[in-house]
Amino acid sequence: MFRILFVTLIFSIIVRAQFSPGDLSNAHANLEGMSNCDKCHTSGDEVQNSKCLSCHTEINSLVNSGRGLHAREAKGKMCYACHSEHHGRGYKLMNFNQKGFDHGRAGYVLQGKHLQLSCAGCHQAKFIKGNAKKRAGRTFLGLEQNCLGCHTDVHKTTLGNNCTGCHTQSAFKPATGF
Ligand code: HEC
Ligand code: HEC
Ligand code: HEC
Ligand code: HEC
Ligand code: HEC
Ligand code: HEC
Repeated sequence: MFRILFVTLIFSIIVRAQFSPGDLSNAHANLEGMSNCDKCHTSGDEVQNSKCLSCHTEINSLVNSGRGLHAREAKGKMCYACHSEHHGRGYKLMNFNQKGFDHGRAGYVLQGKHLQLSCAGCHQAKFIKGNAKKRAGRTFLGLEQNCLGCHTDVHKTTLGNNCTGCHTQSAFKPATGF
């Protein structure tokens, strides 16, 4: 009896191992191995978004607050529709073309002077907040739309926080709304 159970156990481990369709991407390389399958899969081999999101909490909170690209484009989809796995270490988990990116897709339309900036002009360490900071240079997360997230208040709070009451994104001088 025990022998049969034991053999079944070993057999199911081998079958599972054989069924791993291939190596994980670089970003997930440390999740390689039998003990980690359930980080992304349920026992039935099914992949669940909630498992991805339990590590990728910053994506989770953006989606929950209706911000960013995922809140618009990933809704109702499986994560792996855009981030597949098991295609080997060199596989690009993010297939993203920066050139010609329509920034409205992230829920933030670039206007005025902002249109002339490079992506890295804004997506750089000094403006990035929170967890994403340590991924500066290879992430688009961690920015806020608030002017004060990137500009200093030359008026030293004397004119309030509502910069757009007096300024547009085309020029600070003249202060067109003043
Ligand atoms: C980092 C997350 C992650 C880990 C860890 C992981 N997988 Fe996967 N696995 C995926 C994703 C995502 C897919 C879906 C790929 C697709 O369909 O594009 C997948 C697909 C599969 C499939 C194809 C069948 C199906 O349900 O689509 C099998 C079988 C599988 N994985 C087995 C394993 C095994 C065995 C392990 C552990 C050795 C493992 N996986 C670890 C993410 C992971
Ligand atoms: C156990 C935690 C964990 C789980 C589960 C997990 N990830 Fe990750 N993921 C990471 C880490 C850690 C990185 C690398 C972060 C870094 O490079 O700083 C990463 C990176 C990524 C990246 C960025 C890749 C890059 O090239 O920079 C994507 C996209 C991603 N994961 C999607 C997913 C998806 C989709 C799933 C579910 C199928 C998933 N992750 C499951 C921990 C996890
Ligand atoms: C004026 C500053 C600025 C410039 C220039 C800029 N971005 Fe952004 N970007 C932002 C801000 C702010 C956010 C955050 C929006 C939010 O979360 O509400 C953002 C968010 C994003 C996101 C969404 C990340 C996510 O997963 O939610 C992507 C992708 C992105 N930017 C790509 C780009 C690319 C590509 C370029 C260059 C073509 C670029 N950005 C130029 C300010 C900028
Ligand atoms: C419709 C395609 C699509 C779907 C579905 C999607 N993503 Fe993404 N994801 C992207 C694109 C494009 C980027 C690169 C631009 C950016 O950062 O927004 C990205 C970037 C990421 C990153 C890297 C963030 C960083 O630090 O730079 C992670 C992590 C991630 N996605 C996780 C997920 C998870 C978890 C899910 C499922 C809940 C998911 N994605 C679903 C398209 C998608
Ligand atoms: C994610 C970062 C970011 C956010 C948020 C942001 N800006 Fe900017 N902005 C920049 C950068 C970087 C520049 C180019 C360098 C500079 O002039 O400071 C710039 C340039 C400008 C300029 C041109 C300045 C000049 O002298 O040519 C104006 C005007 C401007 N921003 C207004 C605003 C206003 C108003 C807001 C809020 C509605 C805002 N910005 C939000 C990053 C940002
Ligand atoms: C009540 C109106 C008002 C508000 C609100 C306001 N400003 Fe101004 N700001 C002005 C005026 C007026 C000037 C001077 C314009 C000129 O010299 O033509 C100015 C000038 C500036 C300049 C240019 C300084 C220089 O000498 O080059 C910057 C930068 C600036 N404001 C940033 C901000 C920021 C950031 C905020 C939000 C925290 C803000 N302002 C809110 C009215 C305002």
